[in-house]
Amino acid sequence: MRILFLSPSAQMGGAERSLLDCMASLRAAEPWWQLDLIAGEEGPLLPEAREIRVRAHCLPFPKRFARLGVFGTGSAAIARQSVTALPGVARYRQSLHQTIQGLAPDLIHTNGLKMHLLGAWDSSAPVVWHVHDYLSTRRTVAQAMRLSAKGARAVLANSRSVANDALRLFGEDLPVETMLNGVDLKRFQPRGPRLDLDELSGMPPAPSGTVRIGLVGTFAKWKGHEVFLRAMARPEFRGLPVRAYIVGGPIYQTSNSQFSLEELRALARDLGIGKRVGFTGFVPNIPDAMRALDIVVHASTAPEPFGLVIAEAMACGRAVISAHAGGAAELVCNERDGVSIAPGDHLALAAAARDLLRDPVKRMCLASAARTTAEARFDRTRLGPALSAFYGNTLNRGNLEPCASSTSTAEIGTAA
Ligand code: UDP
Ligand code: GLC
Repeated sequence: MRILFLSPSAQMGGAERSLLDCMASLRAAEPWWQLDLIAGEEGPLLPEAREIRVRAHCLPFPKRFARLGVFGTGSAAIARQSVTALPGVARYRQSLHQTIQGLAPDLIHTNGLKMHLLGAWDSSAPVVWHVHDYLSTRRTVAQAMRLSAKGARAVLANSRSVANDALRLFGEDLPVETMLNGVDLKRFQPRGPRLDLDELSGMPPAPSGTVRIGLVGTFAKWKGHEVFLRAMARPEFRGLPVRAYIVGGPIYQTSNSQFSLEELRALARDLGIGKRVGFTGFVPNIPDAMRALDIVVHASTAPEPFGLVIAEAMACGRAVISAHAGGAAELVCNERDGVSIAPGDHLALAAAARDLLRDPVKRMCLASAARTTAEARFDRTRLGPALSAFYGNTLNRGNLEPCASSTSTAEIGTAA
């Protein structure tokens, strides 16, 4: 069997990490399959894919198409930018088509909006869309995906919440299945090296006994950096042995959708906590950063489609505080293996952090329960067999049969 993966980005954000986990697990489950990957840019995903015997190719997007972003941009601006990007897209479509023909895949697995559309417009092989985001929240995206649905055979969603969104969009037109992301439990585990976050942030070493609390994430504007900084600026933390960190950086090429490091530093300064917050920049080896934190915060202000950082932090045996909405709400059981707060509520975040800061035993109990949950629910070894079965069913079902599972989403590859 020959599977071709298409990814717009080659930077290691959540969708790309998830793709790599899928490919690694599939490689283990089906050692003889030919796996190819085409990415729309150069980046760390390509060498990492090659290490697991995926033939990884870069077919760079034209600049205007690469920069075209739909999040944080109004519909009129998207329309304007799309028009200027169009000639490049037409040429790109042609070279992508030739490359696909050369690889002759049995099935194409796409992993991001631009590749969903390009894949669906190419008729070389059946296409499955691995959907990592809410499609219906942006009108332009929803329209484009609905119009292109005829070119896809099935949708794989990263959470039930995203699957329900896709079902609302596609109705009977496409079968939708849920496959929760997995993490590499050997890499993301409680024991192992810890980064010196102070050194990395250019700060003096914190006194021993300092509790470290960090928001780990890419710099998309809805990831709640502002909520985190406002919570950390609350007077109740003044004088306490606590230090805050922002771990991450802006990694995508799309315009308008991300904070810059300077903007976040300026916000911390304006809130009067410039000296109490460390900015590490993007960390390639995130388990080492997570192990250096006592509390990992997820604070997205919009419903999080899944939230890989939450599953990773749980696998690292950290006490997690997470914003309870969307797919993220399917990951944490409040007060059992983490603490849930309402999205955007910096006072609730401050209260939860203060509680965990005061209570090291609670931190330990939550951390240990989090690891147990991660072992039961987020082990990536289940992804390969689940994908293999999903591809088989998709190919057997063909184009013509009505979609049996289109009114409810089946969850695949999940332990009972
Ligand atoms: N990440 C990383 N280094 C950083 C910050 C984040 O490798 O400095 C990774 C993180 O480990 C996770 C991904 O970026 O795998 C973020 O995924 P998530 O699904 O949480 O959010 P996304 O940004 O993809 O919406
Ligand atoms: C996207 C989503 C994120 C999810 C990741 C992997 O980046 O925004 O919530 O964890 O994909 O599925």
